[in-house]
Amino acid sequence: MRLDESSLHKTLQTHQLDVANQHMRDLFAADPERAERYTLDAAGLTLDYSKNRINDKTLELLLRLAKEAKLGDRIEALFSGEAVNHTEQRPALHTALRARHQVELIVEGHNILGEVRETLSRMRKWVRAIHTGELRGYSNKPIDTLVSIGIGGSFLGPKTVSTALQTQAKDGLNCHYVANIDGNDLALVLEQIDPETTVFLIQSKSFTTLETLENAKAAKRWQQAQGVPESAFAKHWIAVSANVAAAEAFGIDKHHVFPMWDWVGGRYSLWSAIGLPIAFMVGMDHFEALLDGAHAMDEHFRHAPFEKNMPVLLALLGVWYGNYFGAQSHAVLPYDELMRHLPEHLQQLDMESNGKSVDREGRPLSYPSGPVIWGGPGSNGQHAYHQLLHQGTQLIPADFIMPLRHHHGLESHHRYLFSNCLSQSQALMQGKTYAEALRELKATGMAEAQAAQLAPHKVIAGNKPSNTILMEQVSPASLGALIALYEHKVFAQGVLWNVNSFDQWGVELGKALSKELFEVLEGTRDAAAMDSSTRSLLSRYPL
Ligand code: F6P
Repeated sequence: MRLDESSLHKTLQTHQLDVANQHMRDLFAADPERAERYTLDAAGLTLDYSKNRINDKTLELLLRLAKEAKLGDRIEALFSGEAVNHTEQRPALHTALRARHQVELIVEGHNILGEVRETLSRMRKWVRAIHTGELRGYSNKPIDTLVSIGIGGSFLGPKTVSTALQTQAKDGLNCHYVANIDGNDLALVLEQIDPETTVFLIQSKSFTTLETLENAKAAKRWQQAQGVPESAFAKHWIAVSANVAAAEAFGIDKHHVFPMWDWVGGRYSLWSAIGLPIAFMVGMDHFEALLDGAHAMDEHFRHAPFEKNMPVLLALLGVWYGNYFGAQSHAVLPYDELMRHLPEHLQQLDMESNGKSVDREGRPLSYPSGPVIWGGPGSNGQHAYHQLLHQGTQLIPADFIMPLRHHHGLESHHRYLFSNCLSQSQALMQGKTYAEALRELKATGMAEAQAAQLAPHKVIAGNKPSNTILMEQVSPASLGALIALYEHKVFAQGVLWNVNSFDQWGVELGKALSKELFEVLEGTRDAAAMDSSTRSLLSRYPL
């Protein structure tokens, strides 16, 4: 069902007109229980969604929308391995990667959980062999460095999680990530590593991604230039891919290739062997605790009633602002330096999933779908872009995310951070009226006329919506639950917009055109048929 075909669409449009005239200040004043009624605990997370432009009627209508979209059936289809990615005839079974207690899940005639568990066991064996020094480099030195070469989902998830869990990392280990075809990315890493103690990991589901293959080839050339004998290659290279043949053709011993599967999307793959950098850094026990956290959120998403379902509520609130308030972006603001890369991972997760303009039947959408996801760590954002959030003309819903406990021992810092996190959502909600601004200015002794002139510039409209997500601390379990929360929010929104959240045809054109332009630079293709801008810009390249 398309959103504009829902019997609720017009009702929601009309309801928005009512809600638009309500200020959250008044909603809180009218209901002292508002925060308690609009707060939910699940899988170790707490969601306070009371600072949203909603009332009970809003939630009733949105929940009916979810039911009319048969979201419950679609959730079951997702978990049971139906080909929900219909344009590629594939399931999307990232949940199977963390189906910790399930015995059987048949896909294309075989039980995929066997392969999942066998891969986890291989990961555990490899990580233990590295950590104990059983696996060594060609000069018999222990391995202390991993260079993960991959991009998109083969990079962002592992980097986000390994950064967030760095306080739990095993001493003496380093993990570097190389993603960009920009030579700086690889060069800066190669300057820092010792070829005798470094393993390179090629992370690529397709094993055809240009950036990844070019970086891997360059790293191999560097190794050889460093005097690593060809015969030692096998000791210093492993891969994760669904294309084992291509990995072997590159020179990776097939016993050093960890499998990836077609039924896992790249942006949903950190739970697979693509998560090896995480396991390398923090060990398999923590990696499996990450899986357990995600599984807890899976169970919640699959079984909680929608009115108490965290991913469903976040999804519905996103639709409420995107499709009825005209919001075009959504800010993710982790108040925690360890989670600083979370917005980058969620950008791919959300924008590559729901950045679509046709529905599942290929019909152009007549309504907005996925938003622009952006953000960064607090409190830094307050000194960069929060001005626009507070006094800009756009409505930008924000998610504030913060752990209650810290690992750093600087208690007063954590209290300042927590105060800032809460004050931002409070200021966004309540704002500052003209009368309050004028009174404040006059209280400073400013003349009436001057205060009246300045006051409009200090008015803050407020009524800017936000969610606050709290966790006990940044741990494998809470991080797993948090990322799974967003995976399921994205999926649920895809259902509400009736789009396929699991393909990404939009990235193919750029790749094809880039190949042609590279050939022009190489002198093997003529640019005459290209547009004048491209030709003019090409002509400026210093060949
Ligand atoms: O951007 C397109 C994409 O296919 C992403 O979906 C994927 O995560 C990334 O490129 C890397 O793909 P691969 O893991 O196949 O190298």
